[in-house]
Amino acid sequence: MTSLPGQNTSITDVAVVGGGIIGLAVAHALAHRGRQVTVIEGARIGERAAAGVAAGMLAPSSEVDLSDPRLTELALAAHAMYGQWTAALEAETGIDTGYDATGTLLVALHRDHLALIDHLHDFQRERGLAAERLTGKQARDEEPYLAPGIAGALRMPDAQVNPRSLLAALPVALVRAGATILEDTRITAIAPSDGGGYEVSTERDGVVSAIHATQVVVAAGAWSRQIASPIIGMPVVPLPMRPVKGEILRLRGERLIRHVVRTPDVYLVPRADGELVVGATMVELGFDARPTAGGVHDLLREARRAVPGIAELELAEVGVGFRPALRDHLPAIGHVDGDGLFVATGHFRNGVELAPITARLLAALMCGDQLDAGDAALLAPFAPDRFAPTTTQVSR
Ligand code: GLY
Repeated sequence: MTSLPGQNTSITDVAVVGGGIIGLAVAHALAHRGRQVTVIEGARIGERAAAGVAAGMLAPSSEVDLSDPRLTELALAAHAMYGQWTAALEAETGIDTGYDATGTLLVALHRDHLALIDHLHDFQRERGLAAERLTGKQARDEEPYLAPGIAGALRMPDAQVNPRSLLAALPVALVRAGATILEDTRITAIAPSDGGGYEVSTERDGVVSAIHATQVVVAAGAWSRQIASPIIGMPVVPLPMRPVKGEILRLRGERLIRHVVRTPDVYLVPRADGELVVGATMVELGFDARPTAGGVHDLLREARRAVPGIAELELAEVGVGFRPALRDHLPAIGHVDGDGLFVATGHFRNGVELAPITARLLAALMCGDQLDAGDAALLAPFAPDRFAPTTTQVSR
């Protein structure tokens, strides 16, 4: 970012609005392509990011909604690049991202669950997705702390990462690559500039400034719709966005499981340092950030049914995050207008999983690459203009 002498205005090539996992990953990909990037975040990095509380499951066949093959394809493409992406980030920063490919056990606690996981297994086989059906005994041989009497399990070659480590590593990598990160900086408006590009108006501690950018990416998660345009009352990205609150727990103590363990009602994600992440509720209450007793109770009850020993662990943290959900629960990645305004948001339950593929594809688009047929097909379903109003023919 270059400051103009005597004025409260600076110039950047790309302004990335939002310092969550998607904004940082996109900024990182652009910086690596030699672009001059400025990330603008309304809070501290990680403070209100959904990824700041997320468990970090990389699970294209158990977490991503398999009923939409377009999302499964995107998640599989992300999955295929994740190990390399985190290894490169670790090499750049020296920060361990917690990438771990031990896998997931989806556990059936009773016959209803068993019917569900068998149904999922059929679906996975139809799609050519790897998964192995285990008996209850085989599952307990893998994970002796699983509840006795479990009915069966599916083992899937999923992975996990520590999203908090990603939120620590990406800014370090960005600064190394010459990017600027502005924290606690509120965006008051984004407007096209007379001479081309965009004017991003900001406010920090009462000081009003402007950043001129050739291109702008709105990646502000559940807050993306709140970025104002110069037309009073109109958001810059008029997408049908809502926050879906998730409550999530962090337990601490003896490491009881090696795999990610899930049932159809809860997931338990173990970390090497003794943390066990238990999630997550899905609550439609807007931006109400208060954790509820009922949410905590439900998560602990379901987690204890799967792994009874969790009752002995310390309850170290109750977190709340806001998943950015669009009407169809798919992300929006691409152009908002023909000039230089882009969006990457709406990743709902899959922001951590989809970060590297979103970054790679959007950076390619923004740099004017001719996408090959595979990438173009991967990206096409997520075009933001799918929500543009259409004219309906009314017959009389
Ligand atoms: N991806 C897990 C969740 O949103 O709860």
